[in-house]
Amino acid sequence: MIADRLTGSNVGRVGSYRAYDVRDGKMEQGLDFIIEASRVVTLCQRSHMLRAGSVSFPGWFGRHSFLTLNEDVAFTNLAGRESPYLGAAKKRGAWDGTKRILALGPDKIIQEVKDSGLRGRGGAGFPTGMKWSFMPKTRPEGRPAYLVINADESEPGSCKDRDIIRYEPHKIIEGILIAGFSMGVTAAYIYIRGEFYQEYLVLSQALDEAYKHGLVGKNACSSGYDLDIFIHRGAGAYICGEESAQLESLEGRKGMPRLKPPFPAAVGLYGCPTTINNVETIAVVADIMRRGSKWFSSLGRRIILGQRFSVFLGM
Ligand SMILES: Cc1cc2nc3c(=O)[nH]c(=O)nc-3n(C[C@H](O)[C@H](O)[C@H](O)COP(=O)(O)O)c2cc1C
Repeated sequence: MIADRLTGSNVGRVGSYRAYDVRDGKMEQGLDFIIEASRVVTLCQRSHMLRAGSVSFPGWFGRHSFLTLNEDVAFTNLAGRESPYLGAAKKRGAWDGTKRILALGPDKIIQEVKDSGLRGRGGAGFPTGMKWSFMPKTRPEGRPAYLVINADESEPGSCKDRDIIRYEPHKIIEGILIAGFSMGVTAAYIYIRGEFYQEYLVLSQALDEAYKHGLVGKNACSSGYDLDIFIHRGAGAYICGEESAQLESLEGRKGMPRLKPPFPAAVGLYGCPTTINNVETIAVVADIMRRGSKWFSSLGRRIILGQRFSVFLGM
C-alpha cells in the first residue's frame, strides 16, 4: 500500500483513492491508495492520471505512477520524517563528493546538466544547462556575476518548493554551490517569499551549518572557490516571482518586470550577469552530478525528463 508514501502533502482530503495509468490513450486501473494527511505533495516519476472521487487529473505524459520513499529519486525526505539538517542530510547523500564534482570543472558540469535534459521547474521549462552556458565565460576584472534562486512560489496552488526548503534545504545549498561554480558567480541570493517564515528559519539554519562546516563561503568544500549565499525575504507580491521583477525587488525597488532584452545573463542583478533558477531546478543538480545525466534522463518522458513534483488540488 502506498498510502504511507503520500504523507507530507497538501490539500488532498484524507480518504481512499484509486490511481489510473494512461497507456496508448487508454485508461488502466493503477493503484489504490489512501491519503492519510491533509497535505498532499507527492513526487511523480513518470506520469499518471489521478482520479479522486469524480475528479480526474490527467498526468503529464502518460505512464505510471507514484513514488516517493523507496524509489530511485533525489528527494527522500519530503514527508519530513527525518531532520532537514546536516547530519541527517549527509546520511541521505547530500554533500557526498562535492569537491570531486567541482574538480570536474565548469564545462563538464554544464555539459552533464545539459545531457541530463533538466529543464527549469519554475514554469517556462527552459533547458537549465543551456541557460547556464549563456553566462559570460570571462568578465572584466572585478565585475561580479550572480545566481538568484527563485523561492517565491506564489502561484496559487503551487506548493512544491516550500517542501524542498522545509525538508531538503541542503540539496538546495549544494546545488547552488555546484551551479554557482560552473558559472563562476561571485555570490548567490535565495529570494524567499516573505510568508515562508518557518521555511526561512530552516533554510537559515541549514546555511549556517554549511558555512560552519566549510561547505560554502571561502574555499567552499576545499575547492579553492569562494561563494557567499544570502537569503533575502520578499514582501509577498506575486509578481516578484517573475525573474526580472525579482531582480528589481532584490535591488530594493518595487517589483516591476523589466523589459527584455537585455536578458539577465547579460544585464541582471545590479547590472551584472545573472542566472535565475527555481528551487526545484537547483535542488536536483547535485544528484545529477553524483548519479549521472543518464540516470536523470531515464526518468520522465518526452521533453520533460527527470523526476518532478506534481501537486494535486481541489479534491
Ligand atoms: C508572473 C510570473 C510569476 C512567476 N512566479 C515564479 C515563482 O514563484 N517561482 C519560480 O521559480 N518562477 C516563477 N516564474 C518564472 C520565473 O520568471 C523564471 O522563469 C524562473 O524562476 C526561472 O527558473 P527555472 O529556469 O529554474 O525554471 C514566474 C513567472 C511569471 C511570469
